[in-house]
Amino acid sequence: MYTKLRKLHLKIRLTSEELIIIVSTKPISRSDKKRRMDMEPVRWGVLGVARHYILRVHIPARDSSLVEIHGIASRDADKAKRAAEKLDIPVSYNSYEKLLEDSAIEAVFIPLPNHLHAEWIRKAADAGKHILCEKPLTMNSAEAREVIEYTKQKGVMLMEAFMHRFHPEWQRARDLTMIGEIGRVHAIHTFFTYNLTDPNNIRNILQFGGGAIRDIGCYAVNTARFVLDAEPKRVVSLMTRDSGFGTDILSSALLDFGDARSLFTVATQTFPFQRVDILGSDGSLTIHLPFNIYPDVPVRMTVMNDIGTRELNLGPSDMYSIEFEEFSRALREGREVPTPPEDALNNQKVLDALFRSAETGNWETV
Ligand SMILES: NC(=O)c1ccc[n+]([C@@H]2O[C@H](COP(=O)([O-])OP(=O)(O)OC[C@H]3O[C@@H](n4cnc5c(N)ncnc54)[C@H](OP(=O)(O)O)[C@@H]3O)[C@@H](O)[C@H]2O)c1
Repeated sequence: MYTKLRKLHLKIRLTSEELIIIVSTKPISRSDKKRRMDMEPVRWGVLGVARHYILRVHIPARDSSLVEIHGIASRDADKAKRAAEKLDIPVSYNSYEKLLEDSAIEAVFIPLPNHLHAEWIRKAADAGKHILCEKPLTMNSAEAREVIEYTKQKGVMLMEAFMHRFHPEWQRARDLTMIGEIGRVHAIHTFFTYNLTDPNNIRNILQFGGGAIRDIGCYAVNTARFVLDAEPKRVVSLMTRDSGFGTDILSSALLDFGDARSLFTVATQTFPFQRVDILGSDGSLTIHLPFNIYPDVPVRMTVMNDIGTRELNLGPSDMYSIEFEEFSRALREGREVPTPPEDALNNQKVLDALFRSAETGNWETV
């Protein structure tokens, strides 16, 4: 029963007069997608059968009209084959290299452990593939600078997969702060925590780029820079490391943007919680579910100012679908990627300064 249900693909289209429900038994075909968008869908390949890809990305990417998931690769041939069968992906490969050799593939998604991002960005660029790489783009800003230069030389697009930026709640938050709905922004406070002690999880492996700052602190830094549309001048941080894993498990930081400041705590062995509060001279804005945003539930934002308090309900929206679609559209239209790779470099510079500050105990210039 469950397997049968899984094969049902529900498409709901709402017009002013009617609700049309179309039930199909297979994903939308390439020719249907092309007809609908009047644009050839981009053929994507996925490097690694990552949990993140299967859990959050595959279905929204597959259902996007501009995306065709053509192939998936694993270091293990059976794993790749099983994933391809389960997810209805036409081609599987027993190595990442094999996928990159496939001339049908135009763009790759890289959801590999963080320490492998730079290596596979370079290899994908060598193969002429455009690249959407998971966050953080690299392990440090020197690596980020190097891969950005490399992909430019090879003439391929590169984007760090910060998906939240495409969600209407973050777009709305930035618009409201930009027009002065809460006055001048003075402070952004962010919590992002979870409790995960599995020693085999990449988040708990130091040499794989695990730890709270790289896994989730990068979001706190990214969203503060996004809302303020500015870069912090200096930062100070405090990190507690797991005695066994060596990864940072409880990290707090203060980012000095001059007129405004951002404060955050991220943690990997703490009660799961996430929230962002933006406080301005004339009001406040709270994002109740800022990062792991459900694709099928409306999200809530609270805005307070002298007019009163209001709850905004936005979405539901699938940020991964929009991310893949926007990248694919940019590729087809020959435009720059929606979030330029230099933004990833700027984010990484802040993370580097946070790690330096945790060592020195001092403010560090970004
Ligand atoms: N944007 C988001 O919402 C979001 C959410 C979660 C994670 N992420 C990012 O996505 C990436 C993957 O996270 P994940 O949770 O999906 O990790 P994961 O389940 O461990 O998947 C990583 C994949 O990388 C491949 N791999 C290659 N070399 C490996 C090695 N030496 N050790 C382990 N795996 C190796 C494996 O695929 P094969 O065995 O098939 O080769 C593995 O399945 C990370 O960069 C993470 O930051 C982003």
